[in-house]
Amino acid sequence: MPQLSVQLNRLKLANPILVASGTFGYAREMAAFVDFKQLGGIIPKTLTAAPRIGNPPPRTVEASSGLLNSIGLDNDGIDAFLAKTLDYLLGLETAIIVNIAGRNTEEFVQIAAKVGQHKQVAGLELNISCPNVSGGVDFGTDPRLAAEVVSQVRNACDLPVIAKLTPNVTSVVEIAQAAAEAGADAVSLVNTFQGMAIDWRRRKPILGNVIGGLSGPAIKPLALRIVWQVAQAVNVPIIGIGGIQSIDDVMEFLIAGATAVQIGTANFYNPGLAPQLVNELTEILTEQNCQSVGDIVGTLQIPAR
Ligand code: SIN
Repeated sequence: MPQLSVQLNRLKLANPILVASGTFGYAREMAAFVDFKQLGGIIPKTLTAAPRIGNPPPRTVEASSGLLNSIGLDNDGIDAFLAKTLDYLLGLETAIIVNIAGRNTEEFVQIAAKVGQHKQVAGLELNISCPNVSGGVDFGTDPRLAAEVVSQVRNACDLPVIAKLTPNVTSVVEIAQAAAEAGADAVSLVNTFQGMAIDWRRRKPILGNVIGGLSGPAIKPLALRIVWQVAQAVNVPIIGIGGIQSIDDVMEFLIAGATAVQIGTANFYNPGLAPQLVNELTEILTEQNCQSVGDIVGTLQIPAR
């Protein structure tokens, strides 16, 4: 049997298939559909310092091969999460990576310090890339700010730190480099692409927030390109995200240079997909005569020109 476990600096996962923040609730919602033990890990919805009600509706709209959302970080707030939800998640026998967002560096540090008290948490994912809240994406578009938030969180908390980056910049490589130099254990690539939908008969935007973030199969080629470019240029483990819905998609991200992947939008229409992909990964690695996931990570061959 091939070895499925993967190591992303200080973060060790039993397998490389994670479920993405914002697509799996706080996991309770998925209990009827998923054997959580099979997953590489769960990343619950982003937590902020205070509870948030999110953006006005409509907050989602289907696009061609994708989903536009402008949720606006609707969440319970970190204190309620730690008091009411974390124990449940830590009982699920899979890695729990807590995703957090602050309005400024101090808030990131304050939330990280609280989560850091809970040593069973596997890691922290810093959402420095939400396109749907004011200031949410700023940290992820400026290498200096990205580095500052990563290094200050590292100082405040012993957990492995992952920076979740936005594709809505000229060069994700530059931001990933800054995050890596500041001490990020890994980078998650990528959050959603900014987009919008229009009801032309009413001359109105469909989303209550006008602009949203596009996810799903529509963005897969774009995400794959970014994963590959960062893998070429930056020495940091990558968690690939973007429209993954089949084992072929998983293999493409791994071969492009990702060490692990997150399943996002597909959870909404096929909640059982992630555990199915873990089984299929074992089969395909066996078929490819691989001893471990590491045997295929970053093995893309570019033909000589
Ligand atoms: C949202 O809550 O608006 C989506 C989260 C994100 O894109 O980071």
